[in-house]
Amino acid sequence: MNTTGKILALTKDHELWRMVLDLDQAYFPRPWKDSDWNSLDLSRHQVWAYHDGDHLLGFTLLATNPGDETAHLLKIFIHSELRGTKTSEIFWQYVAESLRNLNFKYVYLEVEESNERARRFYEKIGFQVLRRVKSYYSDGEAAEMLRLTI
Ligand SMILES: CC(C)(COP(=O)(O)OP(=O)(O)OC[C@H]1O[C@@H](n2cnc3c(N)ncnc32)[C@H](O)[C@@H]1OP(=O)(O)O)[C@@H](O)C(=O)NCCC(=O)NCCS
Repeated sequence: MNTTGKILALTKDHELWRMVLDLDQAYFPRPWKDSDWNSLDLSRHQVWAYHDGDHLLGFTLLATNPGDETAHLLKIFIHSELRGTKTSEIFWQYVAESLRNLNFKYVYLEVEESNERARRFYEKIGFQVLRRVKSYYSDGEAAEMLRLTI
């Protein structure tokens, strides 16, 4: 599997769409239901795949309301074999560039306090912690709210 790839905006009829849903189900502690994905309004969201032609290397999902300055990062994923190889940082550079091209200035996100790897990654790419919210998730877990100027 290559560590560099290309970013591609997915539509629901793209062959990689189903793979994104399967990765979400398999690897996220709070996956979305298929019905949530199917009702996603793609005029207000971006699902960007990162792929090398043969493989899906990762994906991201953002809420991108037209006219807003801030995009909301909902999910980001890099294949486990590629973690720690800078692939996620390279993918992020493409994501940030694509968001700037859509006139976004900031990215906001929430992350589970227990997801130390993701928190460390976000810190590394420049996100700053705005605040911690106790019992943010339905199972009582705390979240950190982070923001990045892109
Ligand atoms: C979040 C994600 C995209 C980051 O990509 P990555 O390739 O793992 O990130 P990196 O390796 O570049 O950076 C992670 C940092 O955390 C560190 N780290 C690794 N495991 C860790 C752990 N258990 N605890 C704390 N830090 C850890 C790494 O050393 C690295 O820091 P460094 O570069 O200073 O050494 C990837 O881990 C992923 O897809 N995770 C599963 C999905 C997810 O949780 N997404 C975020 C919530 S939507």
